[in-house]
Amino acid sequence: MLKIFNRMPVLKALLIQLFAFVCIAPLMSSLPTLTLLEWALFQGIVAAFISYCFRIASWWLPIQLCFFPAVVLTLALELSPLWFCLGFFLLLLIYGKTFQTQVPLYLSSTEVTRVLASLLPQQRNFTFMDLGCGCGGLLSKLNKTHTHGAFYGIEAAPIPYLIGKIRTLFRRPNCNVQWGDLWKQNLGQFDVVYAYLSPVPMPSLWEKASREMQPGSLFISNTFAVPGITPEKIIALNDFSKSKLYIWRM
Ligand SMILES: C[S@@+](CC[C@H](N)C(=O)[O-])C[C@H]1O[C@@H](n2cnc3c(N)ncnc32)[C@H](O)[C@@H]1O
Repeated sequence: MLKIFNRMPVLKALLIQLFAFVCIAPLMSSLPTLTLLEWALFQGIVAAFISYCFRIASWWLPIQLCFFPAVVLTLALELSPLWFCLGFFLLLLIYGKTFQTQVPLYLSSTEVTRVLASLLPQQRNFTFMDLGCGCGGLLSKLNKTHTHGAFYGIEAAPIPYLIGKIRTLFRRPNCNVQWGDLWKQNLGQFDVVYAYLSPVPMPSLWEKASREMQPGSLFISNTFAVPGITPEKIIALNDFSKSKLYIWRM
């Protein structure tokens, strides 16, 4: 049970909201002068406080505080439920199972592409994998400049996958985006594995890379280090988020 909560903190946050509601609901009849929005705000404060006591990640606190007031205000707009249904499915198609993976969609900068291009071999054949390749932008740009490379990407969210697939369809045959779960992809056949994910999967991803990747191959992580494992090289990038590339030779 604890494992599920750790893997999906959204469930923990929801349970805390329910618990706060159960605590507050009996008080509602004794204080009828408060408006619904004031009750919602009170609920938010209690939920944020309980979340704080349970040491839930700090960025959840404003979400917990604003969740119920936002529900009350949105319901006051009296929008058709179809809009919410549409919004939900659109987010699901763009972000996939982010609530579970804790890896949302954001794209590598052009500076990352430039630095990666300078690291990849120009004269000999190599294979490159982008784990969670988003819309395939990085792959198709590197594919243009590195004719000796075979580029692969795996992506779990439907709309980014479709965009990536269409984008790479018209490239040379050795650029391929596949729909699937990166955890089921064996990494043994790649010379370079690139990941731009989040802090959450990094320890498990390192274990997987150490198990499967060939000696001498490169594992590169954009922005997110592997706790406790010193990289061979760190490259500071001059992009909008001043991110870093962490490079390990396996
Ligand atoms: C931060 S984006 C990086 C996109 C792209 N690699 C880039 O650098 O521009 C991370 C992507 O990983 C995908 N992702 C997260 N978990 C995944 C999994 N288990 N299997 C496949 N893709 C996953 C997300 O859907 C998201 O599109």
